[in-house]
Amino acid sequence: MPPSTSSDLTLSVNGEKYTLTVDHRTTLLDALRERLDMTGTKKGCDQGQCGACTVLLDGRRSVACLQLAVAAEGREITTIEGVAEGERLHPVQQAFLDLDGFQCGYCTPGQICSAIAVIEEHAAGWPSAVTGDVRPEAGPPPLTPEEIRERMSGNLCRCGAYVSIVQAVARAAEETKGAAA
Ligand code: FES
Ligand code: FES
Repeated sequence: MPPSTSSDLTLSVNGEKYTLTVDHRTTLLDALRERLDMTGTKKGCDQGQCGACTVLLDGRRSVACLQLAVAAEGREITTIEGVAEGERLHPVQQAFLDLDGFQCGYCTPGQICSAIAVIEEHAAGWPSAVTGDVRPEAGPPPLTPEEIRERMSGNLCRCGAYVSIVQAVARAAEETKGAAA
């Protein structure tokens, strides 16, 4: 008998468990959109180039078009549908709204998921390609516009309208820092 090409798996998405049978080649992006009807995560390029499909896997950003659904079992998946707390928007969503960071419905969900992880990566002291002093004792670099641009550079907008996003990420980072203090 030929080996099975599909498996039953349980995905944990936004705190809920979903059991489904998927072909082993199914990407997490297609499982979310086509099987679980979570269409907030967008398919732009489907080849890891644009960031439109960005989700959080155990809190770290991941492009769902390059992630197999079967490999996401056992991990906590957060999509754009799960970042708000009830009626209360995530600080990044609120900052995008207040500072006009919202762009089209295609790139914005990925931008927001990325920005949430950017703020956490920065707070954890992760350097970026533009960080001048990467020695651990130097501590986190200031979250300058240059740092934000570099850290958000995996999320492309075909229209080139990024200016307000930088301000929105900076404000959400300040608020997150204030809330944690
Ligand atoms: S759709 Fe995944 S990176 Fe473009
Ligand atoms: S791709 Fe969304 S505004 Fe440009």
